[in-house]
Amino acid sequence: MRPATRDHTSAPSGYSNLQIVLHWTIAALIIFQLLVNKDMQAAFNDRLEGRPTEEFGAAVLHIAVGSTILLLAIVRLFIRRTRGVPAAHPDNPALVNWLGQATHFLLYGFLFLMPVTGLVAWFGGVELSAELHELGRLVLIPAIGLHALGGLAEHFVFRNDSLRRMLTFK
Ligand code: HEM
Ligand code: HEM
Repeated sequence: MRPATRDHTSAPSGYSNLQIVLHWTIAALIIFQLLVNKDMQAAFNDRLEGRPTEEFGAAVLHIAVGSTILLLAIVRLFIRRTRGVPAAHPDNPALVNWLGQATHFLLYGFLFLMPVTGLVAWFGGVELSAELHELGRLVLIPAIGLHALGGLAEHFVFRNDSLRRMLTFK
C-alpha cells in the first residue's frame, strides 16, 4: 500500500468557499468604511476637544465594522497560510503576475494598517495615527482600483479563470 503522503508545497486549484466569502465580505465592508465616515470624523474631533458628541452611534458603527475587518483579515491570513491559494496563471505576462501579487500584498497590509491606526487614534487619542489613517485612504483607494482593473483584465483580456475562481462556489 502507498504511504498516505500529502504534498504541502502544491497550491490548491481554487479558492475554498470560505476564502471566497471572506474576500467579498471584507471587500464590501472596506467599501462601506471608505464611503461612510463623515460622522466618524466629527465624533473624533469632539473626542479630541473633550466635548460630548452627537455622532456616538456613527462612531460605534465605524469602530465595529473596522474591527470586524481586522478579525476577518486575521482569519483570512490564517487560512491562506494553512490551506494556501491558487497559483498565478503561468501564461500571463510576468509583469501582470508581479503587479497582481504586489497589489495583494499591499491590500493585506491595509486590512491591518487601517484598523490598527484607527484604534490607536481613537482609544489612544493619538493624532499622528489619525493622520496616517486619513492618508491610508489615498493609497488604499487607488490600490483597490488597480486590483479590480487587474481582475477584470485577467477575465476579459487574458481570458483566464482568475475572476471566476473568486466568484464560483464549489
Ligand atoms: C479597514 C477599516 C477601516 C477603514 C477602511 C477606515 C476608513 C476611514 C476613512 C476613509 C476615514 C476618513 C478619513 C478622512 O478623510 O479624514 C476614517 C476616519 C476615522 N476612522 Fe476609520 N477606517 C477603518 C477602521 C477604523 C477603526 C477600527 C477605527 C477605530 C476606532 C477607526 C477610527 C477612525 C477615526 C478616529 C477617524 C477620524 C479620523 C480623523 O478625522 O482625523 N477606523 N476611517
Ligand atoms: C476592498 C476591496 C478588495 C480587497 C481588499 C481585495 C483584496 C484581495 C486580496 C488580498 C486578494 C488576494 C487573495 C489571496 O491570494 O490571498 C484578492 C484576490 C482577488 N480579488 Fe480582490 N479585493 C477587493 C475587491 C475586489 C474587486 C472589486 C474585485 C473585482 C474584480 C476583486 C477581484 C479579485 C480576484 C479575481 C482575486 C483572485 C486573484 C487570483 O486568483 O489571481 N477584488 N483580493
